[in-house]
Amino acid sequence: MMRTEQARPIRLEDYRPPDWRVETVELDVSLHPTATKVRATLKMSPNGETVPAPIVLEGDGLTLTSLKLDGSELHPDAYVATPDSLTIAQPPAGTCYLQIDTLLDPSANTQLMGLYRSSGTYCTQCEAEGFRRITYFPDRPDVMAVYTTRIEAEKSEAPILLANGNPVRAGDIPGTTRHFAEWHDPFPKPSYLFALVGGNLACVEDNFVTMSGRDIVLRIYVEPGKEDRCAWAMDSLKRCMRWDEEAFGREYDLDIFMIVAVNDFNMGAMENKGLNIFNDKYVLASPETATDTDFASIEAIIAHEYFHNWTGDRITCRDWFQLCLKEGLTVFRDQEFTSDQRSRPVKRISDVRLLRAHQFVEDAGPLAHPVRPREYREINNFYTATVYEKGAEVVRMLKTLLGPSGFRKGMDLYFERHDGEAATVDQFIQCFADASGIDLTQFMLWYSQAGTPEVVVTGSYDPAAQTYRLDVAQAVPPTPGQPVKEAMVIPLAVGLIGPDGRDMSLAFNDGRPVVRGVLTLNQPAQSFTFVGVPHRPVLSLNRGFSAPIKVTANLSADDLKFIAAHDSDPFNRWQAVQSLANTLLTDNVAAIRGGGTPHDDEELIAALAALLNDPALEPAFVALMLTMPSEADIARDIGRDVDPDAILAARTRLRTTIGARLGPALRETYRRLQEDGPYSPDAASAGRRALKNACLDLLAAAGVSAIALAARQYHQATNMTDRIAALTTLSHYGVPERQAAIDDFYRRYAADPLIIDKWLSLQAAIPEPATLERVRALTAHPAFSLANPNRVRALIGAFAQSNQTQFNRADGAGYAFLAETVLALDPKNPQVASRLSTAFRSWRALEPVRRAQAETALRHIAAEPKLSRDVNDIVSRSLDGG
Ligand code: PHE
Ligand code: ZN
Repeated sequence: MMRTEQARPIRLEDYRPPDWRVETVELDVSLHPTATKVRATLKMSPNGETVPAPIVLEGDGLTLTSLKLDGSELHPDAYVATPDSLTIAQPPAGTCYLQIDTLLDPSANTQLMGLYRSSGTYCTQCEAEGFRRITYFPDRPDVMAVYTTRIEAEKSEAPILLANGNPVRAGDIPGTTRHFAEWHDPFPKPSYLFALVGGNLACVEDNFVTMSGRDIVLRIYVEPGKEDRCAWAMDSLKRCMRWDEEAFGREYDLDIFMIVAVNDFNMGAMENKGLNIFNDKYVLASPETATDTDFASIEAIIAHEYFHNWTGDRITCRDWFQLCLKEGLTVFRDQEFTSDQRSRPVKRISDVRLLRAHQFVEDAGPLAHPVRPREYREINNFYTATVYEKGAEVVRMLKTLLGPSGFRKGMDLYFERHDGEAATVDQFIQCFADASGIDLTQFMLWYSQAGTPEVVVTGSYDPAAQTYRLDVAQAVPPTPGQPVKEAMVIPLAVGLIGPDGRDMSLAFNDGRPVVRGVLTLNQPAQSFTFVGVPHRPVLSLNRGFSAPIKVTANLSADDLKFIAAHDSDPFNRWQAVQSLANTLLTDNVAAIRGGGTPHDDEELIAALAALLNDPALEPAFVALMLTMPSEADIARDIGRDVDPDAILAARTRLRTTIGARLGPALRETYRRLQEDGPYSPDAASAGRRALKNACLDLLAAAGVSAIALAARQYHQATNMTDRIAALTTLSHYGVPERQAAIDDFYRRYAADPLIIDKWLSLQAAIPEPATLERVRALTAHPAFSLANPNRVRALIGAFAQSNQTQFNRADGAGYAFLAETVLALDPKNPQVASRLSTAFRSWRALEPVRRAQAETALRHIAAEPKLSRDVNDIVSRSLDGG
């Protein structure tokens, strides 16, 4: 097939420093709905050469209206301007000023990259390569400049005008209905961190005194009328600012910090220096409109973007291959913040569930790539679970290997050594090596080798010698472009649990100490022997999920039940229950497919009963314990020849059994956790609601009387968490109460798109054959719009990602629908279309009928001649790789 759009891949090994630096950028932006004028004045200097290299600036769909060099109009022969580049072949030998005028149509910008309008508000999104859609520029992160931005607009249309940095001046433009504002950001930054906003926005203001006593103005801008939904975001912001001072010694640096919430946003949020722009979903919350999960996400994302100020903005990335340098590290930082604010074990379990659901799946399929990729065709496709979540795990392993104080020393050195620079992953790791004296050469494989390491452990007890021996083997499976792998450095936290349920002390036979309970694996096969073990212990492996690996060990069902009841490591108590459930579910899926009879697991039921009745446990933790592996979890565990219908049947059977067998305890817990007081989003209250609603859901699985309970909870709920939980439970059963509640929900919340997103998602997730038609019908509902990424993700994304049986219909209709949607969306918003198309990434693991159907749908997308580079990259890698 001929594909002219197939761009040449960009390679890490081809990196060269820029020929020209930009010292300052002066932007003068005159906002207009369809004809915005941008004047960029760049002070440029050659980067060392005596004979100056040509100036080559990137553009994307630009219209040049004027070009001046050092104050005079450039002769048309002196440059070449296309929509995608601007080249001056013979620039002057030294520093020069380039004045570039471009003309933009923000209303026509449906990609939501560059300058666009979201419900009338002008805003920008420049990461990764959006600045080139505003003006011609060396649009690469190692070009760091000081920006001054002047914005001008109609006062009535855009009374609020914002940009990065501190405000300089503002005022009316005499004799017109227009006004202006000027902002200056003294910190040199790459173009992807540039932002401006203009619109009619309301503002909530607060302040923060930093550790050195500086007074910072904090502002959150939202649509007028939504000010009363900003309190939680503001509270989260102040808490994370304090935390970064205490945990990392990092203080805020400008006089003002602003957050703007917009309706139309491709991602979650963006860390533009001093002016974070957010998807409104991650700002707005009140008890009536947002769930506990929403409150937790807002807290985490506010923190994530704020933490980028040091890990991303002050120290940025040299090139986009280093994306994990800011993202993995910043995810690690926001995870630690949440762990300190809430429950550390609950946070760890939740994060590992997400890692397995997204990153392990990515690593096992055709889109697998290293945490630091070596090449890309479209950088937007590398904002992945591997870069973010596995990237965070790699930082976490570093902390495990070095210990808390060694890790902190390395971080301090990183901030000291690279502040103000565009750095690399190698430079980051070097700081830890220098601070600790530990050689991290082999550790770097975590950045270069894709695939989830598989570790097999055999434990054997010698009662005569009173020793316990671990034989450990590791292997990394092949991934696209990487058939053969080397052994990794794996910090494996272990424990030996004695018959009394207490940890035994660990001592190696060669006298070396076992530092912090961590074994360091670094060979394909190795063994460790512990001495002074008086009884046969139960082995607890990969405690706290100390490494992002798959572990198999010779543990019996009794061992797992023992771990679930006694392990001092809460993560492994949870993991033991999951392991018991996985074994049962895998067996039963095979039985169902083979026409056999599924069975129950008494050990699992007994373990769950004990946990449910243990008053010492946090409710949020018990709720996680009661949550059985998802259909996607089971599919991932099975790994090949996947039949989603059999998986749903096995899982439903298990939930029905739990609901029936633990009925009285579940009912009692549900009753005990009813609360009448005012709603509070704190972690303990949220945990009680989570457990209550987990009980309700299991009870409903077991019988009809709980349907009435769910219907009652739906109608009487005083907060969104309880209301949506009851509705979700109801939605899985074809009872009359269901449609009544679904219709009621729409009537109540029709005016609020973020709430209606929940309504779209829950209908898309119903595991029954009528769902595809329901989803199709909803695409024509006035509440739906293909132009808004949140709506698309809520309906289509939920269908493709969380409805295993209906997306993977054996007749291929689910795949055909997704392909159709991807093709319809691609010309408008390639980034969102591309992300949707990743739902096909596990197609090769399906049973043959579905596999063939999925391949047909993928080839149908691939056959479109005008496919975006974004979708083309995902679809062609999905078809080639693996
Ligand atoms: N850098 C953003 C974050 O992780 C994510 C993002 C990427 C947003 C690209 C927009 C575009 O916080
Ligand atoms: Zn980020």
